[in-house]
Parts: sequence; structure tokens; C-alpha cells
Amino acid sequence: METHQSIIETMKIRTSVRTYDGEAIAVETLEKLNERLRAINAATTIKARFVISEMKDTDGNAVKKLGTYGVITGAKTYLVGIIDQSETDAVQFGYLFESIVLYATRLGLGTCWLGGTFNHEDFKKIVRLGESEKIVIVSPVGYRKDRTTLLEGIMRTMVKANNRKPWTELFFNQDKTQALDEERAGEYAIPLEMVRLAPSASNKQPWRVLHSDTGFHFYLCRTKGYGLASYDVQMNDLGIAKYHFETAANELGLSGTWVNTDHPIVEAWEYVTSWQGR
Ligand SMILES: Cc1cc2nc3c(=O)[nH]c(=O)nc-3n(C[C@H](O)[C@H](O)[C@H](O)COP(=O)(O)O)c2cc1C
Repeated sequence: METHQSIIETMKIRTSVRTYDGEAIAVETLEKLNERLRAINAATTIKARFVISEMKDTDGNAVKKLGTYGVITGAKTYLVGIIDQSETDAVQFGYLFESIVLYATRLGLGTCWLGGTFNHEDFKKIVRLGESEKIVIVSPVGYRKDRTTLLEGIMRTMVKANNRKPWTELFFNQDKTQALDEERAGEYAIPLEMVRLAPSASNKQPWRVLHSDTGFHFYLCRTKGYGLASYDVQMNDLGIAKYHFETAANELGLSGTWVNTDHPIVEAWEYVTSWQGR
């Protein structure tokens, strides 16, 4: 069932789901998800593709064993994110995968980004890869066990907000010494709040946004010694943040574009991109 939930509401209710009820996804719902993947795969400008891998009932054992080191239980179906070894744009990959995650949320399905706790070899057995391809992200997709009631959903949303860094650590005005509060952010307060609620690897929340006269500048504040083994998972987090900011802004009627433009240089932060409102 596709709800007509707004994208902002969808971002608020999405949380990582790690326990599934084992039911197959309804045929019509799965077809919608597949349709979305086909559209994304056809349009993408990076060397990446996204597939759905469904385990059949006869694979009962495989379902149980499929390598997530016990982190995920009861999931039969996985979204699998594949990138070419030569592709370096983890930002765009994260952007696209999050668009799929939120679409699945809208369809009433649970998801959980997995960049670390999955066994690559196991997934390679169920997805046919080209020679130069690798799997970098997977996510179970299906029905949450004990589907939440509305009240639970609201409670989880509040818990999530508590698990995020405060505005003072994430959003700045002109330079790193001045916090950007919700009042000063004005019509962009909600898009920024959607960045704050975004999922990130190990919940590190490495995104930083600095507002200046030339726009909202997005930076990566890397966690030392984290990630980077074979895929830049924190740049991927910046792509998620971009998707949240842009789609929330668009839903509120705030148009703009992503540009690489003049931006303040901030020590220890890597510049990624800037949003210029029109
Ligand atoms: C790129 C990325 C990789 C992640 N990898 C894992 C993982 O390997 N295992 C896991 O249990 N959760 C993983 N997560 C889920 C995060 O831990 C989760 O999004 C974060 O704690 C915030 O919680 P929420 O998604 O419920 O809002 C990952 C999330 C992202 C965005």
C-alpha cells in the first residue's frame, strides 16, 4: 500500500528496522519498488545500480544464514547497492540509495542501511556481479515484526530526535563559532531538521552545514580512523543529507540548486557542496 505521506513526514517516521515478520512483500508493492529501481538505474549518472534480491521460501536456511551476522532477523528481501570499482562518487550513491529507502518507507516497508554488518561473499552468491562491480550497501526490506501502532511510531520519532546531535553541533552561521538556530534558519529550519534526522553510518552524523551569504554549505567532519576501507561511507552519509535537505526544501516550495561555489574554508571539515536558493 502506498501512502500519500509527505516526504517530510516519511523522514520523521523512518527508523532502522532490524526485526522482520518473515512475510513476503505484497506483489503489487514489490512491483512498485522494482519500478522505482528501474527508473533510478535508467537515469543514474554514476556507475552504480540497485537491485532487489528476493529469497524464495525453499531457501529457508539461506534466509536465516544470509550474512548479516545476526543483526537482521526475519528478512527475505534485500535491496542491494552495487557500484563499479572505478566509481568514486559515494555522495551520489548515498543520495540514490536513500531515495529508495524513503520510497520503501512510504510503501509501508521497513529498511536498515547496512554498510558494515553484512557478509559480502554471501550476497555475491545471490546477486550476479560484473567483473568490476562490488556490493557496498545492502538493506533488508519488508514488514517490521509487530508492526508499530501510530503511538509507537510517534514515540520512536521522539527517541530518534534524542539520539541526534543538537543544532548547535551541526549548523552554523557565517563561521564555525556562531550557531545557526531555528529562528535564524527561517524557512530552511525544516530542511535542516531533516538533515539532523537522517540516518548515518554508526549514527556518527558527520554532516555540518554552514550558512553564509552565498548559500548553505555542506561539509564532512570525518570521524578519525572510521570507514574508508573500500568505500567512503561518510561521504555516502553526505549524500543522504543532501537528499533530505533538497526534497524537504522542494516539498516546502523552496527551490534551489546544488553548486560548487565560494565557501568558507573550515579547518578539519571537507567541503562537499552548496545549496543556493532561487
Ligand atoms: C551508510 C550507513 C551504513 C550503516 N551500516 C549499518 C550496519 O552495518 N549495521 C547496522 O546495524 N546498522 C547500520 N546502519 C544504520 C545506522 O546505525 C542507523 O541509521 C543510525 O544508528 C540511526 O538510527 P535510525 O536509522 O534508526 O534513525 C548504517 C547506516 C548508514 C547510513
